[in-house]
Amino acid sequence: MSLFSLVTGRPGPSGFGSASTAEQVTEGIDATNLTAVITGGASGIGLETARVLALRGAHIIIAARNTEAANEAKQLILNDNETARVDILKLDLCSMKSIRAFADSFNALDLPLNILINNAGIMFCPYKLSEDGIEMQFATNHLGHFLLTDLLLDKMKNTARVTGIEGRIVNLSSIAHLHTYEGGVRFDNINDEISYSDKRAYGQSKLANILHANELSRRLQKEGAKITVNSVHPGLIMTNLMRHSALMMRILKVFTYIFWKNVPQGAATTCYVALHPSLKGATGKYFLDCNEIAPSAFARDEVLAKKLWDFSNKLVKSALNS
Ligand SMILES: NC(=O)c1ccc[n+]([C@@H]2O[C@H](COP(=O)([O-])OP(=O)(O)OC[C@H]3O[C@@H](n4cnc5c(N)ncnc54)[C@H](OP(=O)(O)O)[C@@H]3O)[C@@H](O)[C@H]2O)c1
Repeated sequence: MSLFSLVTGRPGPSGFGSASTAEQVTEGIDATNLTAVITGGASGIGLETARVLALRGAHIIIAARNTEAANEAKQLILNDNETARVDILKLDLCSMKSIRAFADSFNALDLPLNILINNAGIMFCPYKLSEDGIEMQFATNHLGHFLLTDLLLDKMKNTARVTGIEGRIVNLSSIAHLHTYEGGVRFDNINDEISYSDKRAYGQSKLANILHANELSRRLQKEGAKITVNSVHPGLIMTNLMRHSALMMRILKVFTYIFWKNVPQGAATTCYVALHPSLKGATGKYFLDCNEIAPSAFARDEVLAKKLWDFSNKLVKSALNS
């Protein structure tokens, strides 16, 4: 997609562009036989994704740490569509204990799982460690989703096998993956506070979202599992994500307003990648404005992706055993 298309909303090869909304890109799609888990589905892009997938008939599980906000989100969706199927399960991605509890609760529901949208995220927060002692943006944005995906994968594989319907995993990344630490991921000092940069730590976590999607995609292809894994940049949308940088973002928006989207446009790429039939079999790809583009060289680096996979496994194992 060119800068011209981004600003004007001119559709790309998919027929959609930056001005397309989530409703437009899913128009006419019947998702009544699908179940989707959406992390962070109580606000922003995740809520709009939940609303539109529910509008197309999917059974939605909103995975949220704030269940009060999630209940309000559910009510909003039901106000729009009284037949929407929406359930809420508690999930705190910066706690491995909470992620395991979520997976146990979800599995106990004995539902199928066709779509997993790893959407929740935090941005530019001051240095902090998670409950498991891992730098917060890496822990929440990447590691939490890494563990969650792993715990839900058997269910997804089984659903795809039994139903014959392709499963889809969508990781919400960001163009911010371009602005990371030297070397991409700080394997040797992931928790270093002195050299911590809130911006680079966010970029690192968003790079990790793409590397995770690509490595998982390769592994699933090797196994012959009928599940695709892709990552997306939703665009620039004013949401609660900006809570740690609200003033800076408001000022930035004044000078760059032509690049910003509203929330329905911001949820379009996620919904397109999660539902659109033209993407059947498309996996290990990165999308912006509903069109595939190439991410950074780090994001395309298979060695880095494998290294991150092993590193993440090690972190998860040591946290769960401590
Ligand atoms: N907005 C943009 O311009 C933009 C650009 C590029 C990429 N993205 C990506 O898009 C995704 C959605 O962001 P958004 O803009 O919709 O922001 P948002 O409105 O703040 O939504 C993020 C959601 O994630 C949840 N969350 C945060 N930490 C969590 C945790 N530990 N456990 C469970 N849920 C947690 C939040 O819940 P709480 O309300 O409880 O915190 C919130 O519901 C993020 O991954 C973000 O990186 C956004």
